[in-house]
Amino acid sequence: MKLFTRQNRILTTILSKYNFSTAPKSVSSIQIKGQNFICDDYTNVTPKMISYLGRNLHLQKNNPLSIVRQRIVNYFYSSFTKRGHPAFSVYDNLSPIVTTKQNFDDLLIPTDHPSRAKSDCYYINRGTLLRAHMTAHQSELLRSGLDNFLMIGDVYRRDEIDSTHFPVFHQVDAVRSQRKEELFIGKPDLEIFEPSYDQENAHAYVNSIDDPMKQSCHTLEAAKLMEGQLKSHLIGLTKVLFGDDIKCRWVDAYFPFTHPSWELEIYYENNWLEVLGCGIVRNEILVNAGPSRNTIAYAFGLGLERLAMALYKIPDIRLMWSTDSGFVTQFENVDLNEDITYKPVSSYPQCTNDMSFWLPSHLTIDTFMSNDFYDLVRDVGGDIIEQVKLKDKFVHPKSKKHSLCYSIVYRHLERTLTQAEVNQVHKEIEKAVVDAYNVVIR
Ligand code: PHE
Repeated sequence: MKLFTRQNRILTTILSKYNFSTAPKSVSSIQIKGQNFICDDYTNVTPKMISYLGRNLHLQKNNPLSIVRQRIVNYFYSSFTKRGHPAFSVYDNLSPIVTTKQNFDDLLIPTDHPSRAKSDCYYINRGTLLRAHMTAHQSELLRSGLDNFLMIGDVYRRDEIDSTHFPVFHQVDAVRSQRKEELFIGKPDLEIFEPSYDQENAHAYVNSIDDPMKQSCHTLEAAKLMEGQLKSHLIGLTKVLFGDDIKCRWVDAYFPFTHPSWELEIYYENNWLEVLGCGIVRNEILVNAGPSRNTIAYAFGLGLERLAMALYKIPDIRLMWSTDSGFVTQFENVDLNEDITYKPVSSYPQCTNDMSFWLPSHLTIDTFMSNDFYDLVRDVGGDIIEQVKLKDKFVHPKSKKHSLCYSIVYRHLERTLTQAEVNQVHKEIEKAVVDAYNVVIR
């Protein structure tokens, strides 16, 4: 019964704070970690999402994400030293509340880029959001004078719900910079920059990315050498994690903040699995962070959940959040490099209930925002929501009314749910959906 009271309270808060279907109420504000934020027409962060802040799974002893984090940090600490000290510094406790400048502008992400959409991010207001990637901290750390660093933490993205997607996950992001003397050891004739690039007037230089091999400011030697380092360091990391026999491949990619860019895929259980994105940092970012730098840098970002799930054969991403002793004890006091295979504690049955509704006349099956719907379902249903999938869409031939049908899969990770209990939660969700969107349940 405790489950339901909690949900009712959350539901009331959500519905009073966010009016999903009509214009926002007059000025309201939200408290997050003791800080007050004014809400506006961009506010879409929910109390449920706010509740994940500060959980810091990547720092919890016994959590698989923390084990993978330590293995990655150790690899960088031991592989790269400067005068006997680790060359990389590690930032694993930066606040996940960032500005749109940090998350997008500083990284040259265009104002109309789809990754800025309200349907993809958790905005606190127009200028502030829960970071969508750890790269959000890259510019500020460069500006503070750092050259080689790792940024590790929780990131927030609105997404569908299934066994491999959760709206909060964890990333390790990195930058490694090289000065001319470090990059071209014993080859003083070689240069990082083309003669046409004037370091004194770096702000005025128009850096082109038309050449697929390099940015126009860089020499081919510098770009290729840096690409070689980037790729060998990341393949090295993958082998340390998965063993020498792991099959890998590079795929060309595009990120606004790197050029050229790649993704690394590993062959895992008969599928190519994308594990990281990387590239050569756009020179404009380095220039904006401090004009006297004269370095070339690579950057990468990898997802800890993907790696931990593959390494330890963890079948459901929600297990990372489990406090159940059956899960936690399997990762307790383990040797970091030990081969661990997760043994399912027991898998409790799923329960699937469908929800069909007619949309009000101002919404169509194409304009209905499914990510809003997923958040609402999760806010009311909590962690027993395993999956929400669109089952059917339909336009009535006569009335022209639009109808949607979603399947909601319920499963508790630690016990069997009764059908009555699921029906009760399902009803609560129906009620919230009716209130939020003015739909008519079929
Ligand atoms: N920030 C990118 C992501 O979240 C990953 C990335 C980091 C790519 C750094 C290139 C360089 O997908």
